[in-house]
Amino acid sequence: MRVLLTGGAGYIGSHTAAALAERGHEIVILDNFANAERDVPARLERLTGKKIPIIEADIRDVPAVVAALREHPVDAVIHFAALKAVGESEADPLLYYDMNIIGTIRLLQAMQEANVTRIVFSSSATVYGQPDSSPILEDFPTRVENIYGRTKLVMEDLIRDLARTKKLKAAANLRYFNPVGAHPSGQIGETPRGVPNNLMPYVSQVATGERPHLRVFGNDYDTPDGTGVRDYIHVVDLAEAHALALEHIVTNDVSITVNLGTGEGTSVLQLVTAFETATGRTIPIVIAPRRPGDVSSYYANPALAEQTFGWRAKLNVEDMCRDSWRWQASRAGINDI
Ligand SMILES: NC(=O)c1ccc[n+]([C@@H]2O[C@H](COP(=O)([O-])OP(=O)(O)OC[C@H]3O[C@@H](n4cnc5c(N)ncnc54)[C@H](O)[C@@H]3O)[C@@H](O)[C@H]2O)c1
Repeated sequence: MRVLLTGGAGYIGSHTAAALAERGHEIVILDNFANAERDVPARLERLTGKKIPIIEADIRDVPAVVAALREHPVDAVIHFAALKAVGESEADPLLYYDMNIIGTIRLLQAMQEANVTRIVFSSSATVYGQPDSSPILEDFPTRVENIYGRTKLVMEDLIRDLARTKKLKAAANLRYFNPVGAHPSGQIGETPRGVPNNLMPYVSQVATGERPHLRVFGNDYDTPDGTGVRDYIHVVDLAEAHALALEHIVTNDVSITVNLGTGEGTSVLQLVTAFETATGRTIPIVIAPRRPGDVSSYYANPALAEQTFGWRAKLNVEDMCRDSWRWQASRAGINDI
């Protein structure tokens, strides 16, 4: 297949590009580089041994997206391009409505104009809000707790509506849990700008000495060690899930909504210990008060993905820590791995 990846130079998009290339698919990347390093395409070409067409454009620019789709006729689009910081979304809701919701509408318009009728979409477990229990199943109620989550739900609904009304032949809404890790080659990984919002990049930066310690928000939750439990998923597993979901929906012309997680809960302290074991580095921690809105425990039931397209996560927390560290250490010029 030939596939266009919006946001394909970003963290999850670049790993998915690598996974698709490995499975013999052709990739076209469309990205405005708002949150991607300029050297990602060259790194991807080194990694895959393939020339990858890169279109620098904004998904809201319909003529540019239509031109890209006409120049590179594709079987499907995988739609990663979005803004993703919860705090920023609360500070600037209109920016998030514009980039995420209007951006998705413009992309869907361009696809319709270019007669591309299959899409895989990056949704998030954030659509469940604060669930009543875990493991979380796809039919749990969705809840909006912040603007970012609102945009993800609206984007899912837009895509579901177009599938229901047969404007799209096939669509996959993939609800990611907590993507972490990096490609084992050390060529691609996550490069957050400024202070990382997520735990693993923060821990990695404490390990390199860029940050003095990790603040752990709350150690009095109802979990085995009192710290918050999440479902971390290796980005390489997540990337493979995109390839399998894409092949499934394109082959069968069906639409699906599935969780992508490991089904295993890992606490903050367990993750820190796994990181220390995998890397031999010590992570100083400071216990801080709980953050408003944080849930104690949150993990997926990933059975539907396995039943539907035969995917399950293979990599464990030690793999996630080791690969995150390899990437972060090489960025920081540390050669102890
Ligand atoms: N990383 C996570 O923890 C996580 C969790 C759940 C869902 N998601 C979703 O997965 C998707 C990818 O996330 P990521 O972590 O790879 O983020 P990322 O920021 O690394 O990648 C997004 C890419 O999209 C590009 N982009 C942004 N706005 C664009 C626009 N208007 N036009 C063209 N390109 C644009 C950016 O330059 C970047 O390369 C996002 O939709 C995000 O909401 C991420």
